[in-house]
Amino acid sequence: MRFAVLASGYGSNLQAIIRSVKAKEIKASLALVVSDQPKAYALTRAKRAGIPTMVFRPNDFSTREKFDRAIVRSLKEKKIDFVVLAGFMRILSPFFVRSYRNKILNIHPALLPKFKGAHAIRDALKAGVDQTGVTVHMVDEQVDHGPVLMQQSLDIKKTDSLASLEKRIHALEHKLYPLAIKFLIEKKKKTR
Ligand code: GRF
Repeated sequence: MRFAVLASGYGSNLQAIIRSVKAKEIKASLALVVSDQPKAYALTRAKRAGIPTMVFRPNDFSTREKFDRAIVRSLKEKKIDFVVLAGFMRILSPFFVRSYRNKILNIHPALLPKFKGAHAIRDALKAGVDQTGVTVHMVDEQVDHGPVLMQQSLDIKKTDSLASLEKRIHALEHKLYPLAIKFLIEKKKKTR
């Protein structure tokens, strides 16, 4: 099985996935890393690991769907079986979701359906809740929505700052995402 990671930024989740592929815990080929940001550090991480990369700049396309169609075309050309979003800061069009129905994973730094959106860690801290966590889910047409594959909670301490909470959330993400990908692959192999 071949999969692609889509990332816009720092790529620490990508790094955890690369590590897990190299350790053969994830038994699939990470065949492509795609970014919408030419300067994303995720691209540097991919290149360092010898993984092919592609950049699609949204400004080069007149609509979101055209942008997505170009990405999907490349994914299909490269025979990508499933897609992993790791900090990809674009909402996928219904066309993209349909093209890889039940084959797109996302990670979100909160216990969905709580704290959707781009500032989930900050929002949980501000809300004064005792617990937050990490969710890995299948992507559907709605944002931060779709069947949950894995979820783990984490206590928020009274002394937590945004930085300290972010640090623990990210450490949890780096453990959970490779596990969820491994789980998905094993499930898909059984149903093939
Ligand atoms: C992660 O917190 C992830 O949950 C969210 O975006 C962030 C990406 O971080 N979707 P990184 O680029 O993997 O370091």
